[in-house]
Order: sequence, then C-alpha cells, then structure tokens
Amino acid sequence: MRIAFSKPTLPEKGAVILLASEDKSAPKLTALGRSLDKSVGGSVARALAASRFKGRKGQSLIILAPGRKDISRVVVVGLGKAGEVTDLIAERAGGVAYAELGKSDDSRAVVLVEAPRHCKLGASDLAAHFALGARLRSYRFDKYRTKEKKEDKPKLVRIDVQVAEPAPARRLFAGLDAVADGVFHTRELVSEPANVLYPQTLAQEARKLSRLDVRVEVLDENKMKALGFGALLGVGQGSAHPPRLVVMRWNGGPRRGKGAQPVAFVGKGVTFDSGGISIKPSRGMEDMKWDMGGAGVVIGLMRALAGRSARVNVVGIVGLVENMPSATAQRPGDIVKSYSGQTIEVLNTDAEGRLVLADALWYCQKRFKPKFMVDLATLTGAIIVTLGAHHAGLFSNDDELAARLTDAGLAVGEKLWRLPLDAAYDKMIDSKAADVQNISSGGGAGSITAAQFLQRFVNKVPWAHLDIAGVTWSTKGSDTAAPGGTGFGVRLLDRLVADHYESR
Ligand code: BES
Ligand code: MN
Ligand code: ZN
Repeated sequence: MRIAFSKPTLPEKGAVILLASEDKSAPKLTALGRSLDKSVGGSVARALAASRFKGRKGQSLIILAPGRKDISRVVVVGLGKAGEVTDLIAERAGGVAYAELGKSDDSRAVVLVEAPRHCKLGASDLAAHFALGARLRSYRFDKYRTKEKKEDKPKLVRIDVQVAEPAPARRLFAGLDAVADGVFHTRELVSEPANVLYPQTLAQEARKLSRLDVRVEVLDENKMKALGFGALLGVGQGSAHPPRLVVMRWNGGPRRGKGAQPVAFVGKGVTFDSGGISIKPSRGMEDMKWDMGGAGVVIGLMRALAGRSARVNVVGIVGLVENMPSATAQRPGDIVKSYSGQTIEVLNTDAEGRLVLADALWYCQKRFKPKFMVDLATLTGAIIVTLGAHHAGLFSNDDELAARLTDAGLAVGEKLWRLPLDAAYDKMIDSKAADVQNISSGGGAGSITAAQFLQRFVNKVPWAHLDIAGVTWSTKGSDTAAPGGTGFGVRLLDRLVADHYESR
C-alpha cells in the first residue's frame, strides 16, 4: 500500500476517513471534517447522532454513500479525548481505518487530518503516525493462499493523507516507514514454514541486507567448529540442515572515538524446535516454526536502522539451528564445551535456545566489545505463564539499560516487565558433572533460570535479555497487526537506539 501526503482538498469521490475526538461523551469532528460533512448534506452529523459512536479511541463508524453518489463511504475513527491523544492512539486510528477499508471494494482513500482543539500532538505527528498505523495493519502473509479469491483480498492500495503542512508529515513518516519495512520483514520471516526457512535459507535472507549497505558475514559449520562453538553446534547436530551464525553490521555512526563503540543485538534463531530427543508433544508443535523469532527481530531491526540511515554503529548477530531428533542428535546427559570454555551438561535437549545464545553472546562481546548487548529469544514457555501476551520478559544486569528499554517499550506500545536475576537462582543451574547445566532440577522459575544461564555467557558486559515467547505470535491480532507474526521488538529497539545512542 502506498501512502502520499498532500494539502487538504474536499474529496469528491472514493472513500474518506475522518478523525473524531471524544467530547463530553459526544463525538466531535474537526473543522475539515465539518466541511466535508457540509458537502455531503450533513449526513455524517446525522449518522453520528443516530449511532452509539462516541469518538473513543479504537472506535469507528462507517457511513455508506453519504448523500453524494461519488463518495462511496465515510469512515469516522475515534481518537479519544483531544487532550490525551498520543502517537500510539493515532496509529491505532490508522489501523482501525485500514481494517475497515480492507473489507471494502475501495482501492483508494483520503484521510483528512487536523489536530483537534486542545490536542497536544501536532498535525504532522498525527498524520505520520496515522499513516504508520494503517501501513502496519496492511501486512498480510498470503503468499501460499493460491486459491483465495481476488475479491476476498483487501483492495486498498493507496491512502492520501491530507494535512495543512504535508512536508513535515512526509519527512516524519519516511523514518517511520523504514521501521515498518523492518517490522514487515520480521513478520514475513516468522511466518515462513520451517521447510522453506532453515539455517541456510535464513542466512541467505540476512545476506540480502547488503543491498542496504549492511555488511553481512556468514559463519558456517566448519568455521564454528574451528572456533569451538560446542554449545550451538550440539543443538544443530541432529538436523539435516547445518547451522549458521550470521553477523550483520550497520556503520552509520562515527568511525572513531567514544561514539564509535557499537551497540549489539543477538537473536535466537531456532528455525524449528521439535525439542530434539526431549521431544515436544505433537499438539501445537507447528508453532515452533517461529522459534527463530528473536533472529527475525534482529534482521528486521537491522533493516529498519539501515533503511532510515540511523547514525549509530550496530552489530546484529543471529545463531541459526534446527533442533531435531535423529541418530546424530544430542542426547540428554551429553556434556558440551562452549566457546567461552565453560562446559555445559545438557539435561534437556528442548532447552536449546540458551545453548545457541551462549556461544552467540560470548562471540559478540569478545569480538565487538559493544556498549551493551540485548538478546531476544522465544526462550521459555514459562514466560507465557507469567506474562501472557501483553508484556515480554526483561532481565538485565544494568539498571540504566533496563529502564531505557522499558521506556522505549511504553513509547511504542511493546511493553516489557522486568524480572529478577539473583545468585540464589544462579545456584539452581550448577551442575555436578560440568560447570553449568541447561535446566534446573526443580524449583520453578523457568524463565529466570534460563536468563541466569545466559548471564554466565555475557562476561559482565551491560546486557539485557528479552524473553519474547509470549509476544512473537498473536492468534488474535491487534488494531495495528493482523493475526500472525507481530514483529514485536523491532519498533522497541529502533526507539531505544533513536532515543539514546544516535550521534547528532
Ligand atoms: N522454544 C521453546 C519455548 C517456547 C515455548 C516458545 C512455547 C514459544 C512457545 C524453548 O526452546 C523450550 O522448549 N523451552 C522449554 C524449556 C524447558 C525444557 C526447561 C520450555 O519452556 O518448556
Ligand atoms: Mn525448546
Ligand atoms: Zn526453542
């Protein structure tokens, strides 16, 4: 879908979107909305009066063929109370409008954007974030639905955002649009099935980022053997698809001095997690195609940052393996030697993500000496028990980094909730036979002990771990995302970088 910005002209045809705020329990149109209403003989005001629409955020009202035959429909979307409108509310309105129009036969729509009185958000922000919300809602993974009828697919291909000053809105949107490209990339990767996307093909996908001047290096099995990645390689050894480690670098920051030190993001990329010999039950196992969600976010984030030419040096690392049971698979009880030199007793082959990250994290800090590392992983079912789908779990050895991540999450609507790290939990993964074991032997706290395991491989670098198992996939969807892969994490980390780590 294309988005274009222009000055307001009263639309004569097609679909029109109007914004309304909530005012003393009655909806209130903007001045532009009122002139449009006048041009259609007051049918919008009459429809508003006859409906239960209050202008609340997330609400919408559709008025078909309002008094003039060339205007097919008017979609009124609510912003809530004028004084409380935020970026996120504007995005929600865009998403709701797209969802309504996607069900119609209109291929084009015009939205008249004007900040309501007392609104703290300027018209440019309102316009750009409305457009972002609409764009985010438009993503659909339908490439394998070959028999879907054309008339059942959304037809909307263009939204004209009309606003008094189009130039600043257009400028603002350009950056947001690059981030949306990153989100779509992530959604696409998590949606692809595991017969299509496995370590080699996912590495190829990452290589394509070189078109955006991202430097991409792929470490194959031999290279990782030579380096001594015993933890990551152990997970992959049961699969017909050999593992890969991809290093992506975007150098948009200073070449030397203090600002040159990179920030780093590390993703779990288990392209399918059968559990291995500690095999998972068959019910729901298909979900484990998105066990590369952390890697998907890192790739989408690199795309977003490169796409908007972020002034920062970034390293993105993804560890790619398929976890399968076979005659060559790792067994429960095996002891492997990680790249850090620490030995690991693998008590459960289904606790594989932490093994992959152990080597990826150690490699990241050793080679790049980053300012900080943030890893993302669909790491534990336990985080879904704890937080459900409304927060991702946050663990960190650094209070400032944790606070910055939490704030960035609130700003973009990708919420994090911090959980503890503590020596008492760390003790739960001491092994009798090796330096550490990959699961605790009872005692609960599954997400925390997983994080403690990772912490043993960060070598005291400022670090945060995001357990995204509950937020990577949504069967329900939201106002700004159709059901499926969410892309959770791309906007959050883009915001973290934009707010704190870009040079001016
Ligand atoms: N990939 C899973 C975690 C997961 C579960 C993600 C459900 C998304 C939805 C992870 O590799 C795993 O299997 N974890 C085990 C750990 C256990 C063996 C200690 C789990 O959570 O059951
Ligand atoms: Mn597993
Ligand atoms: Zn897994």
